[in-house]
Amino acid sequence: MPKITFEMESVTVDVPDGGTIWDAAGKARIVLQRGFAAAHPCSGKGTCSGMACAVFLRTGDPVNAVSPPTWREKFFHRRIFKSGKRLACQCSPRHDLTVVTMP
Ligand code: FES
Repeated sequence: MPKITFEMESVTVDVPDGGTIWDAAGKARIVLQRGFAAAHPCSGKGTCSGMACAVFLRTGDPVNAVSPPTWREKFFHRRIFKSGKRLACQCSPRHDLTVVTMP
């Protein structure tokens, strides 16, 4: 069972196998959506607008640390994905991981 550490919030949460970073944030009562996405959250479907639930993965191996990017990340959130961030609701950790939430 991987552990996710939310660096800005100084919280570490266990995630069941197959669970997402978004699930872990919910468990820790951390709200990831900001701005318009907070007003109209998609509840983990990968369709929020703006920065959605983007997080930065603080790991030396971002490719193997989490599940591969989904088509929603590549299609709806191309700019976020290309900037090295991932949608928390679309990626599952494979190992213990530290993430940085967006201000
Ligand atoms: S929760 Fe809406 S895009 Fe992730």
